[in-house]
Formats: sequence, structure tokens, C-alpha cells
Amino acid sequence: MSGEPAVRLQVDRVSHSYGQLEVLRNLSLEVLDGEFVAVVGPSGCGKTTLLNLLSRFDRPSAGLIEVNGQTRTVYQKDGLFPWQTVWENIALGLRRTKDKKEQERQVKELISLIRLEGFENSYPYQLSGGMRQRVELARALAGTSEVLLLDEPFSALDYLTRLRMRLELARILKERPRTVVLVTHDIEEAAQLADRIIVLSEAPAQIRFELSITAIRPRDPTHEEVVRAVHRVLTELGVESGSGEYANA
Ligand SMILES: Nc1ncnc2c1ncn2[C@@H]1O[C@H](COP(=O)(O)OP(=O)(O)OP(=O)(O)O)[C@@H](O)[C@H]1O
Ligand SMILES: [Mg+2]
Repeated sequence: MSGEPAVRLQVDRVSHSYGQLEVLRNLSLEVLDGEFVAVVGPSGCGKTTLLNLLSRFDRPSAGLIEVNGQTRTVYQKDGLFPWQTVWENIALGLRRTKDKKEQERQVKELISLIRLEGFENSYPYQLSGGMRQRVELARALAGTSEVLLLDEPFSALDYLTRLRMRLELARILKERPRTVVLVTHDIEEAAQLADRIIVLSEAPAQIRFELSITAIRPRDPTHEEVVRAVHRVLTELGVESGSGEYANA
């Protein structure tokens, strides 16, 4: 065997339309085992659509999607059940674990991982937005799935909470490694977290360009490589002052 990491997700010449509306066009993408890929692109370009195809919630109109393993998704909109407590919401992620004692042990461990000890019996409405997102993460990390699909998980949070959540996510992934696809319109978030940033064009979305970031996580927003990556993406998108459309940074 070679030392090459396995391909975990494969998107091969995928196109997707909703009726007349063409959303994705001939998209190809490979995500390696353990890789953290961020997908950024304008609103409505098809990012959630792509995640829905990766989670097998939907099938592509054309092309192939291969997912080697189980996926768990954190959705763009609040995905917790409001009538269930923190404990119950997380336990839902472990419903396949039949052994009750083992389930209990794991929920406890996850609650400690997201630092919400003492809130086991709270309902989502009793938590702050950042706490709710941590519960969502814990639920998605419960069990043995290999792939984490994150759809703008922090976009509803204020800037400081977002900064904290990025560090939390990096910390949590160190303890529970996963292959991650993070959809976001926040370029700084992408640069702080991802090994690779994929920039999509307007719908019908195609990959406009991509770039890799090698600095170890957690990374501060002011980390040299993060700043450089943000600058590079903004320049490519033509929204950095002094740069034109498609300027070569
Ligand atoms: N189930 C659906 N039926 C019909 N059209 C849809 C459906 N889901 C999405 N669309 C359309 O497909 C396009 C892409 O939607 P999608 O939700 O994938 O975009 P997005 O990149 O996630 O946007 P945002 O950043 O705003 O979340 C939009 O024009 C949307 O209206
Ligand atoms: Mg979306």
C-alpha cells in the first residue's frame, strides 16, 4: 500500500438542476480522508445543494457522487428539536447505540467536549446561539460517522462568538477527527479552519479557483497565512480595493 490518504468524498462531473434552474454545472471535487475543505461562494450559488448531494439527501441530475463512509450534517437553520433537552438532542445522534449505559457515557463525554456541563436538562430556547451551535456540533459528532458536513454553522452568531466557535471547532476536531466540508460565505472563517478553500462561481456553480492553507490549527484571524488567504480570495473575487475582476494576486 502507498502512503497516500484515501479519497473520502468524490464529486465527479456533477450537474444539478431544479426544474429549469441549473444550479451546479459539471462540478468535480475530491476530498481526502481527514481533510478539511471549505466551500465559499455567493448566496444562491448552490452550496447547500452540494451538501444535500453529499449527504445523499438528494441525487444529482447528472454525474457521480461517491461517499466513502457515513455523513452527519449541521444545517444552516437551527436544527435542534425545541421540545428536547440538550441531553436528548445529543442522544439522538446515538440512537443506533443500543447499549443504554454506553449511550449515557458517550453523551456525557460529548457534553464535556462542548463544555456544557450543567446544561444537560436545558431546552434550546434557554441557551445562547453559540451554545445551541455547540449542541448541534456534539450531536453531529456523536457516533462513528466519518464525514461532517457543515452548512454555515456559525453565520447567525455575532463576530466574537463566531471567533470563539472557530477555535472550539478546531479544538473539538483535534479530539474527534473527521473529514469536513464546511460551507460558508465567511472567507476569514474558511481561512482559519480549512486545509483547502474552494471558491464557487455564481449559479450554475463551477469551481472558480481553490487554494491550500498549511498552517496548523487553531489559527488566529490575524495569522499571516490566514490574512494572506483572505486577501488572495478577495482579490480573485475582485472585491479588494485596487484589484480588478480576475486579478492575479
Ligand atoms: N428544493 C429546491 N427546489 C427548487 N429550487 C431550489 C431548491 N433548493 C434550492 N433551490 C434553488 O437553487 C439555488 C441554489 O440554492 P442553495 O440553497 O443551494 O444556495 P446556497 O449557495 O446554499 O445559498 P445561501 O448562501 O443563500 O445559503 C437557489 O436559486 C435556490 O432558490
Ligand atoms: Mg445555503
